[in-house]
Amino acid sequence: MDLLVDRWIEDFEENIAFIRDFSSLTVNSWCDRPQSVVIVAQSICTTTDSGLTTSAERRRLDVEVAAVRTVETTLEDVAMANQFVLDIAEVKAQAAQHMDRGAVTDGNQSRTSQVIDVLNDVVATEIVCYMRYQRHAISAAGINSGPVAAEFAEHAAAELRHAMSAAERVNQLGGDPDLSPEKLAERSHTDYKAFDDADLEGMLQENLIAERIVIEIYQQVIRWLGEDDPTTRRLLESILAEEEEHADDLADLLTTID
Ligand SMILES: [Fe+2]
Ligand SMILES: [Fe+2]
Repeated sequence: MDLLVDRWIEDFEENIAFIRDFSSLTVNSWCDRPQSVVIVAQSICTTTDSGLTTSAERRRLDVEVAAVRTVETTLEDVAMANQFVLDIAEVKAQAAQHMDRGAVTDGNQSRTSQVIDVLNDVVATEIVCYMRYQRHAISAAGINSGPVAAEFAEHAAAELRHAMSAAERVNQLGGDPDLSPEKLAERSHTDYKAFDDADLEGMLQENLIAERIVIEIYQQVIRWLGEDDPTTRRLLESILAEEEEHADDLADLLTTID
């Protein structure tokens, strides 16, 4: 009997340690845990009632058991709230309404007109970046110009792709992609700046600054979008990843310039 009690106490202590760590755990990790924690705790209580532990230990165990029950109730509530419940009839009814909105459904919670505005700023920024890189690719001269010009040309092609992807997303959201030349400089977050043909360092620095600007802005937009518009967020996340690569490439090239 003593051995059995020892094992119960050992299990109980282990489980209590786990529960004390509860605040740092997710519901999923709790769900991996057998629900027998409370049963173990109750067994210990029953055991203590038989007088095998001191009254002080019994009181402490009572407090622990109460804590276990509170945590279990809380976790059940949270798990219920997090359950994915699909009301297919409601989804079908909503999909049949507002078909003029195209890809924009009620599940897309973001303020669509604001997202369109933000995306049109991205379009303008990417086009200005394309033009700046392309200009630098054409004008770069000097003994070190080969790899630098090639990198500029590669980045230019990527920026144009980014611009077109953002413009297509604007269209999907029911907006008008703003490609008007007179608005580009106004909307762009980065500047168009030319340099002397031999000033590779100036070009690299200017483009690196521009990349760092868009990295910061896209990170902020991604945080702002949150879970509201996952498609736009994923698009910007993929663009952001390429901008980070561009910044890395430019920083590496800068170290090779005399
Ligand atoms: Fe870009
Ligand atoms: Fe870039």
